[in-house]
Amino acid sequence: MGQRGYALWFTGMSGAGKSTLSAELATVLRDRGLKVEVLDGDEVRTNLSKGLGFSKEDRDTNVRRIAYVARLLARNGVVAIGAAISPYKETRDQVRDTFPVGSFVEVFVHCPLETLIERDPKGLYARALKGELKHFTGIDDPYEPPDNPEVIVNTGVETVESGVRRILSALELMGLVPRVDEQRADLVHERLRAVGQG
Ligand code: ADX
Repeated sequence: MGQRGYALWFTGMSGAGKSTLSAELATVLRDRGLKVEVLDGDEVRTNLSKGLGFSKEDRDTNVRRIAYVARLLARNGVVAIGAAISPYKETRDQVRDTFPVGSFVEVFVHCPLETLIERDPKGLYARALKGELKHFTGIDDPYEPPDNPEVIVNTGVETVESGVRRILSALELMGLVPRVDEQRADLVHERLRAVGQG
Protein backbone atom coordinates (compact mmCIF):
# COMPACT_ATOMS: atom_id res chain seq x y z
CA MET A 1 0.00 0.00 0.00
CA GLY A 2 1.39 3.37 -1.01
CA GLN A 3 1.26 6.50 1.05
CA ARG A 4 -1.73 8.77 0.61
CA GLY A 5 -0.69 12.22 -0.56
CA TYR A 6 -2.36 15.42 0.51
CA ALA A 7 -1.70 19.13 0.88
CA LEU A 8 -0.96 20.90 4.12
CA TRP A 9 -1.58 24.58 3.53
CA PHE A 10 0.00 27.10 5.91
CA THR A 11 -1.52 30.56 5.68
CA GLY A 12 -0.76 33.60 7.82
CA MET A 13 1.04 36.91 7.84
CA SER A 14 4.72 37.46 7.18
CA GLY A 15 6.82 36.50 10.18
CA ALA A 16 4.04 34.52 11.85
CA GLY A 17 6.08 31.33 11.62
CA LYS A 18 4.79 29.47 8.54
CA SER A 19 8.27 28.56 7.28
CA THR A 20 9.57 27.51 10.70
CA LEU A 21 6.52 25.39 11.50
CA SER A 22 6.40 23.78 8.08
CA ALA A 23 10.11 22.90 8.14
CA GLU A 24 9.82 21.39 11.62
CA LEU A 25 6.69 19.49 10.70
CA ALA A 26 8.34 18.20 7.52
CA THR A 27 11.12 16.68 9.63
CA VAL A 28 8.66 15.01 11.99
CA LEU A 29 6.58 13.62 9.13
CA ARG A 30 9.69 12.27 7.41
CA ASP A 31 10.61 10.55 10.66
CA ARG A 32 7.22 8.87 10.48
CA GLY A 33 8.14 7.49 7.09
CA LEU A 34 6.21 9.93 4.92
CA LYS A 35 7.52 11.55 1.76
CA VAL A 36 7.29 15.32 2.19
CA GLU A 37 8.02 18.35 0.05
CA VAL A 38 7.83 21.96 1.22
CA LEU A 39 6.80 24.75 -1.14
CA ASP A 40 7.65 27.95 0.65
CA GLY A 41 6.44 31.28 -0.72
CA ASP A 42 9.75 33.04 -0.13
CA GLU A 43 11.60 30.31 -2.00
CA VAL A 44 9.04 29.80 -4.77
CA ARG A 45 9.28 33.52 -5.45
CA THR A 46 12.97 33.06 -6.32
CA ASN A 47 12.20 30.48 -9.03
CA LEU A 48 8.73 29.33 -10.13
CA SER A 49 7.15 32.68 -9.21
CA LYS A 50 10.17 34.85 -9.98
CA GLY A 51 9.16 38.30 -11.16
CA LEU A 52 5.78 38.31 -9.44
CA GLY A 53 4.96 41.19 -7.13
CA PHE A 54 2.40 41.65 -4.37
CA SER A 55 -0.72 42.88 -6.18
CA LYS A 56 -3.80 40.71 -5.63
CA GLU A 57 -3.35 39.27 -9.09
CA ASP A 58 0.31 38.37 -8.55
CA ARG A 59 -0.31 36.89 -5.10
CA ASP A 60 -3.15 34.78 -6.50
CA THR A 61 -0.93 33.59 -9.34
CA ASN A 62 1.78 32.68 -6.86
CA VAL A 63 -0.70 30.80 -4.67
CA ARG A 64 -2.21 28.95 -7.63
CA ARG A 65 1.22 27.90 -8.86
CA ILE A 66 2.13 26.53 -5.45
CA ALA A 67 -1.21 24.72 -5.32
CA TYR A 68 -0.66 23.27 -8.79
CA VAL A 69 2.68 21.75 -7.81
CA ALA A 70 1.19 20.57 -4.52
CA ARG A 71 -1.55 18.77 -6.47
CA LEU A 72 0.98 16.97 -8.66
CA LEU A 73 2.95 15.92 -5.60
CA ALA A 74 -0.10 14.85 -3.58
CA ARG A 75 -1.35 12.81 -6.53
CA ASN A 76 1.93 10.92 -6.34
CA GLY A 77 1.73 10.11 -2.67
CA VAL A 78 3.71 13.03 -1.33
CA VAL A 79 2.65 15.24 1.57
CA ALA A 80 2.96 18.66 -0.07
CA ILE A 81 3.36 21.50 2.38
CA GLY A 82 2.51 24.93 1.00
CA ALA A 83 3.62 27.89 3.08
CA ALA A 84 2.60 31.27 1.70
CA ILE A 85 0.77 34.25 3.15
CA SER A 86 -2.05 33.48 0.70
CA PRO A 87 -4.04 36.43 2.08
CA TYR A 88 -7.26 35.99 0.11
CA LYS A 89 -9.86 33.64 1.54
CA GLU A 90 -11.70 33.10 -1.72
CA THR A 91 -8.49 32.09 -3.51
CA ARG A 92 -7.58 29.64 -0.74
CA ASP A 93 -11.08 28.18 -0.87
CA GLN A 94 -10.82 27.79 -4.64
CA VAL A 95 -7.51 26.02 -4.15
CA ARG A 96 -9.08 23.74 -1.54
CA ASP A 97 -11.78 22.77 -4.05
CA THR A 98 -9.16 21.51 -6.51
CA PHE A 99 -8.11 18.80 -4.03
CA PRO A 100 -10.03 15.62 -3.28
CA VAL A 101 -12.18 15.97 -0.14
CA GLY A 102 -10.06 15.43 2.96
CA SER A 103 -6.81 15.99 1.08
CA PHE A 104 -6.42 19.68 1.84
CA VAL A 105 -5.57 20.64 5.39
CA GLU A 106 -5.51 24.35 6.12
CA VAL A 107 -3.31 25.50 8.99
CA PHE A 108 -3.87 29.09 10.07
CA VAL A 109 -0.64 30.42 11.56
CA HIS A 110 -1.87 33.31 13.61
CA CYS A 111 0.19 35.89 15.45
CA PRO A 112 -1.06 39.26 16.72
CA LEU A 113 0.15 42.18 14.61
CA GLU A 114 1.77 43.90 17.62
CA THR A 115 3.94 40.83 18.17
CA LEU A 116 4.86 40.63 14.49
CA ILE A 117 5.90 44.29 14.57
CA GLU A 118 7.89 43.69 17.76
CA ARG A 119 9.71 40.62 16.42
CA ASP A 120 10.16 41.79 12.84
CA PRO A 121 13.31 39.70 12.12
CA LYS A 122 13.58 40.94 8.53
CA GLY A 123 12.78 44.57 9.42
CA LEU A 124 9.94 44.51 6.87
CA TYR A 125 7.20 45.77 9.21
CA ALA A 126 9.39 48.73 10.20
CA ARG A 127 9.87 49.59 6.53
CA ALA A 128 6.18 49.14 5.78
CA LEU A 129 5.19 51.34 8.73
CA LYS A 130 7.53 54.06 7.46
CA GLY A 131 5.85 53.79 4.09
CA GLU A 132 9.03 52.52 2.40
CA LEU A 133 7.38 49.22 1.51
CA LYS A 134 3.94 49.52 -0.06
CA HIS A 135 1.12 46.98 -0.02
CA PHE A 136 2.56 45.09 2.92
CA THR A 137 0.22 42.44 4.31
CA GLY A 138 -1.33 43.54 7.60
CA ILE A 139 -0.16 47.14 7.24
CA ASP A 140 -1.64 48.53 4.03
CA ASP A 141 -2.71 45.31 2.35
CA PRO A 142 -5.37 42.88 3.54
CA TYR A 143 -5.08 39.53 5.27
CA GLU A 144 -8.31 37.55 5.38
CA PRO A 145 -8.14 34.83 8.06
CA PRO A 146 -9.78 31.50 7.31
CA ASP A 147 -13.24 30.83 8.82
CA ASN A 148 -12.80 27.12 9.26
CA PRO A 149 -9.19 26.03 9.15
CA GLU A 150 -8.47 22.46 10.22
CA VAL A 151 -5.83 23.76 12.64
CA ILE A 152 -5.05 27.13 14.23
CA VAL A 153 -1.64 27.79 15.73
CA ASN A 154 -1.13 31.02 17.66
CA THR A 155 2.59 31.64 17.55
CA GLY A 156 2.10 34.72 19.72
CA VAL A 157 1.60 32.44 22.73
CA GLU A 158 2.66 29.00 21.55
CA THR A 159 6.12 27.52 21.06
CA VAL A 160 7.09 25.97 17.72
CA GLU A 161 7.23 22.59 19.42
CA SER A 162 3.71 22.89 20.79
CA GLY A 163 2.41 24.08 17.42
CA VAL A 164 3.98 21.16 15.61
CA ARG A 165 2.58 18.74 18.18
CA ARG A 166 -0.92 20.12 17.74
CA ILE A 167 -0.78 19.94 13.96
CA LEU A 168 0.49 16.40 14.24
CA SER A 169 -2.35 15.37 16.58
CA ALA A 170 -4.88 16.86 14.17
CA LEU A 171 -3.31 14.91 11.30
CA GLU A 172 -3.40 11.73 13.38
CA LEU A 173 -7.09 12.26 14.12
CA MET A 174 -7.75 12.74 10.41
CA GLY A 175 -5.90 9.51 9.71
CA LEU A 176 -3.29 11.36 7.67
CA VAL A 177 -0.28 10.30 9.71
CA PRO A 178 0.53 6.83 10.89
CA ARG A 179 0.53 6.75 14.68
CA VAL A 180 3.89 5.75 16.10
CA ASP A 181 2.45 2.59 17.69
CA GLU A 182 0.68 1.56 14.46
CA GLN A 183 3.89 2.10 12.63
CA ARG A 184 5.73 -0.11 15.11
CA ALA A 185 3.08 -2.80 14.69
CA ASP A 186 3.61 -2.61 10.91
CA LEU A 187 7.33 -2.95 11.39
CA VAL A 188 6.89 -5.95 13.66
CA HIS A 189 4.61 -7.63 11.09
CA GLU A 190 7.07 -6.89 8.36
CA ARG A 191 9.94 -8.41 10.33
CA LEU A 192 7.91 -11.47 11.27
CA ARG A 193 7.02 -11.94 7.61
CA ALA A 194 10.67 -11.59 6.68
CA VAL A 195 11.67 -14.41 9.01
CA GLY A 196 8.72 -16.51 7.84
CA GLN A 197 6.69 -16.30 11.03
CA GLY A 198 4.06 -13.80 9.90
S1 ADX B 1 1.76 35.68 -1.02
O1 ADX B 1 0.93 36.84 -0.61
O2 ADX B 1 2.00 35.65 -2.46
O3 ADX B 1 1.20 34.41 -0.52
P1 ADX B 1 4.41 34.90 -0.15
O4 ADX B 1 4.20 34.07 1.07
O5 ADX B 1 4.69 34.21 -1.42
O6 ADX B 1 3.16 35.93 -0.27
O7 ADX B 1 5.62 35.91 0.11
C1 ADX B 1 5.65 36.68 1.27
C2 ADX B 1 7.07 37.14 1.61
O8 ADX B 1 7.49 38.16 0.71
C3 ADX B 1 7.12 37.76 2.98
O9 ADX B 1 7.49 36.82 3.97
C4 ADX B 1 8.15 38.85 2.85
O10 ADX B 1 9.42 38.34 3.14
C5 ADX B 1 8.13 39.21 1.39
N1 ADX B 1 7.40 40.45 1.04
C6 ADX B 1 7.91 41.45 0.29
N2 ADX B 1 7.00 42.40 0.08
C7 ADX B 1 5.86 42.02 0.69
C8 ADX B 1 4.55 42.59 0.82
N3 ADX B 1 4.24 43.75 0.24
N4 ADX B 1 3.61 41.91 1.52
C9 ADX B 1 3.93 40.75 2.09
N5 ADX B 1 5.14 40.16 2.01
C10 ADX B 1 6.11 40.78 1.31
